[in-house]
Amino acid sequence: MRPLRLALAASELAPFAKTGGLADVLLGLGRWLGRPPTAADDGAAGPGHDVRLFVPFYRRIRDGGVAVEDHPTAGAIDVRFPNRTLRYSIKVGRLPASEVPVYFVDCPELYDRDGIYTDGGDEPLRFALLSRAVLETCQRLQWAPDVIHCNDWHTGLLPLYLRTLYAWDGLFRRTRTLLTIHNIGYQGSFATGVLESLGLGEQQAHLHPGDLQNGSFSFLKTGVLHADKLSTVSVTYADEIQTDTYGMGMQELLRDRRRDLVGIVNGVDYGEWDPASDPRIPHPYSADDLAGKAKMKAALLDRFALPHERRAPVFGVVSRLTSQKGFELFRDAMPVFLQREDMRLCVLGSGESEHEQYFQWLRDTWPDKVGLYRGFQEELAHWIEAGSDLFLMPSRFEPCGLNQMYSLRYGTPPIVRRTGGLADTVQPWDPDSRTGTGFLFDEFSSHALAGTIDWALRCWRDRRGWQRLVENGMSQDFSWQRQGPEYVKLYRSLAASPSA
Ligand code: ADP
Ligand code: GLC
Repeated sequence: MRPLRLALAASELAPFAKTGGLADVLLGLGRWLGRPPTAADDGAAGPGHDVRLFVPFYRRIRDGGVAVEDHPTAGAIDVRFPNRTLRYSIKVGRLPASEVPVYFVDCPELYDRDGIYTDGGDEPLRFALLSRAVLETCQRLQWAPDVIHCNDWHTGLLPLYLRTLYAWDGLFRRTRTLLTIHNIGYQGSFATGVLESLGLGEQQAHLHPGDLQNGSFSFLKTGVLHADKLSTVSVTYADEIQTDTYGMGMQELLRDRRRDLVGIVNGVDYGEWDPASDPRIPHPYSADDLAGKAKMKAALLDRFALPHERRAPVFGVVSRLTSQKGFELFRDAMPVFLQREDMRLCVLGSGESEHEQYFQWLRDTWPDKVGLYRGFQEELAHWIEAGSDLFLMPSRFEPCGLNQMYSLRYGTPPIVRRTGGLADTVQPWDPDSRTGTGFLFDEFSSHALAGTIDWALRCWRDRRGWQRLVENGMSQDFSWQRQGPEYVKLYRSLAASPSA
């Protein structure tokens, strides 16, 4: 079968611009899709598609010393919006350890700013431009993608632009769109007043009528209405978002489009996240020899200046601190354990101040048991995955979640709530059959979390059982080699489909 032409567009891409798992997924999927079919250095052959990624050229990328060059033909492209014309050019880079091209959309007026996301009034325009830049660049290069793969609200307008402003261009006759929802909690909702400035003033018939009546519209909903296919990042979440509990106002629309909606669990890029080869940890290890893990535990405790005690379990947290992640359940649960147990808690996180302050309070109250880094450091994330004995992820909702899959590979059994991708990737430990990889609870309550931590601590004391639990987790395979073909199947079905 011929290789596909695939354009992947998103607001984040690791290692260049990242606030969460979206960035990791784009890197891992992009790198796998483009890997040549001839055996690469590590022996793993790939499907060798013509994949190109589109992401804004934020200030942090420009200043970060990323190797880029001006695209020889995609320079000085003008994109006309009703009240202004924006000029951008494409800077070309590569995904690390690959030949896959990244097209950085260089529009200093919109992207030469401190943050990836801003609360500026032109936020909708910043991401409307990203969508249009994908299409304009394809035109300039006369490159007709089989599939444009949009991700989250930031690229939600692309399918509509393709059907309206660009409908005249035969180049896109066979181009189909896929929109992947990584998180329905962020929809990109704005007042209808901005529609005109985005070039959509005439397109109201294509927007969600209920929202328009309320004076708003959303990028994500528009994408859900117009993308040829929809996906989300786990099988369970694909069901959940059609329910009133998890749909965040989009459930009806998603139910209407359920035949076009699939769940594909995210892959893990084990090139980045494997304790046997991770260059970010000083003591590598594998399931056959866990000596390095014990050393990582000691190193992690040193790093947080916490006292060592081999039998005291270390609980790890690496997270954006938002209400999605369920840390309010810690309030009633954690103090009891910190008071009672000889344990450690190592936290890396940043986000909403109420959560940051809570962790600060835990740290100040139990300075010999709790370590905290407020902010984010990629290296420390790897150290916590490696040096902890248990990983905590009590999410209220979790579209997929990557950290629990990383923790499995690092021999750090996760304690998770049974929701979304957590339900799909963690199996409950059963000491009798010695099967399972972690600990799950259902009800979103401190009580349920506490009961599960209690149970995990009892299992921790059974050293032989624990060894098996760790091995079970480390042998799980969520690689892109396994998950990626699901996307290719979807792309192929799209490429063969008639236009809707
Ligand atoms: P989410 O995308 O909802 O944050 P995931 O588990 O899918 O959750 O992905 C988390 C990824 O983001 C991991 O690579 C993790 O190391 C990283 N990460 C976690 N917290 C932060 C943060 N505050 N800033 C940047 N990256 C973070
Ligand atoms: C979102 C979700 C997370 C998912 C990630 C990548 O940020 O919160 O669950 O793993 O996207 O798909």
